[in-house]
Amino acid sequence: MINNNWWHEIVLYQVYPKSFQDTNHDGIGDIRGIIKRLDYLKDLGVNMLWLNPIFESPQVDNGYDVSNYHTIDPNFGTMEDVEELIKEAHKRDIKIIFDFVANHTSNQHPWFKEALKGKDNPYRDYYLWADGKGENGNDLPNNWQSFFGGSVWERESVNGQYYFHLFAKEMPDLNWENPIVREEITNIALFWLEKGIDGFRVDAFIHIGKEPGYPDVSGVLEGDIAIAEEFYAHQPNVNPYMKEWADTLRKDYPDIFIVGEAASSSPELGVEYSDPEKGGCNSVITFRYFTEDWDAKDSRIPGNLQPGQLKIVDFKQVMSEWQESFADMGGPTLYWNNHDMARVVSRFGNDSEEYREQSAKMLAALMYLQKGIPIIMNGEEIAMKNLEFHSLDDFVAPETKEFIQKSRVVGYKDEEILANLAATVKDASRGAMQWDDTEYAGFSTITPWGGVNQESKYNVLEQISREDSVFNFYKQLIKIKKSTLFKDGLWKLVPTSDSLYVYKRQMEENTALVICNLTEKEQEFVLPQEFVRKSYNILLENEHIRHYDNVITLGAYGATIIHQVL
Ligand code: GLC
Ligand code: CA
Repeated sequence: MINNNWWHEIVLYQVYPKSFQDTNHDGIGDIRGIIKRLDYLKDLGVNMLWLNPIFESPQVDNGYDVSNYHTIDPNFGTMEDVEELIKEAHKRDIKIIFDFVANHTSNQHPWFKEALKGKDNPYRDYYLWADGKGENGNDLPNNWQSFFGGSVWERESVNGQYYFHLFAKEMPDLNWENPIVREEITNIALFWLEKGIDGFRVDAFIHIGKEPGYPDVSGVLEGDIAIAEEFYAHQPNVNPYMKEWADTLRKDYPDIFIVGEAASSSPELGVEYSDPEKGGCNSVITFRYFTEDWDAKDSRIPGNLQPGQLKIVDFKQVMSEWQESFADMGGPTLYWNNHDMARVVSRFGNDSEEYREQSAKMLAALMYLQKGIPIIMNGEEIAMKNLEFHSLDDFVAPETKEFIQKSRVVGYKDEEILANLAATVKDASRGAMQWDDTEYAGFSTITPWGGVNQESKYNVLEQISREDSVFNFYKQLIKIKKSTLFKDGLWKLVPTSDSLYVYKRQMEENTALVICNLTEKEQEFVLPQEFVRKSYNILLENEHIRHYDNVITLGAYGATIIHQVL
């Protein structure tokens, strides 16, 4: 099928601009900050950046509520800054993709302000409207719940109708059924491609279609609301609209890279969205890799805000399915965390002083040497842990309000709620990038907007100067990842106990094994027959690994990558 495309070589780095580097001393990261750090990123070895939204926005959802798609939010800088960033990145052979938010706009977008004026306004049909039920339309149009809590419907005062918002009520959903909306959206994308960017990460695209007639979710108590994925995710019109959009862009810009955020996508759907005959994406980002033990969670309160152990058997199964489904398409996207989830070393590694570096390295080896496109979140390469929280007031993510309230109702103490949220909340990954050990970690000269952990060891300055640091491990790993074997070779899971995650990469006679110990206990791995009595090179490993005869002994969170000598 579609093999050997240039984008199979991507090593993507996610920059959360707000938290990356502040250069004008207002506590908010900015575009000039990214420019300043391009040499650092070049040194790390990544070759594409994904920037979270930098467009003009009231910042109700940190930029995912766009009020003007053609201007840069003054918090981040100017259009000139962005043009310079693109130029400077390209000079270093680093491509740039932008976040493209087109499922919804801000309620401060001129389109929505117009639409609110009345049913006859030409912009009315840019958004989704429904009449309320019951007397005077006072009841909600249906029982669908928003991802940010509460109903998806919000009533407007002029006509008493309700508009649809899958996320915050300040983020009304666009009506993709309207061809004029689709044209506007295409033009916005073209505007940015003309500026020279190399593609998009498409936000929440799986939600652009909604079930016609807005039927109620069944089995929900009268007056209650419920998540309605069956009606507002993966609708049949999603892929045709994405394809129409992407085809138009690719006519003039054939080499762009489009990666879609497809949170609830199965491998089958992921393939459909990434199939050039059917959809618009080159690849997708599912949120389904991380199979936590939901049985151990308290079902009375939202499960996504309670920490959970990774269920290794299921995790291996899921990763295998994605690997197999995407085998002919360069592999799936490979990532451990992003701005919507807690940081991996805290979540699935071990962020105690003893094991933090060791487990961070192991997780990197486990994930990124598989077949596919690595997406590294800023700070992950220096083992940044979750931001520390000290009070329930510190949380800004909208879904935390409901969690706190529900937890209190069923009897949780505030310190227990704090512990749950601190371990899971998306705010935990949005702390300021740690550049050095000065106050505010070299991110800014004043208090950062979203908090900062100040640490002597897990900062860039310290990490680049020490040979055995996590940063230098990532750097070597990325080099290995770019080799043909790790880019194009077959991927195959090697059956082991739950304590280990082992896989093989193979290209004809060229074979490597990645062997990872997921536990704090020492583990032994017996080499498969084909490796026995042949010599192998160690490409990279972390601490406490012993090789003896045909047995490899891995200390806590050990990882080794071995390459068979032909
Ligand atoms: C995506 C983004 C998330 C945002 C949401 C609404 O899921 O990753 O941060 O809140 O879309 O745009
Ligand atoms: Ca700034």
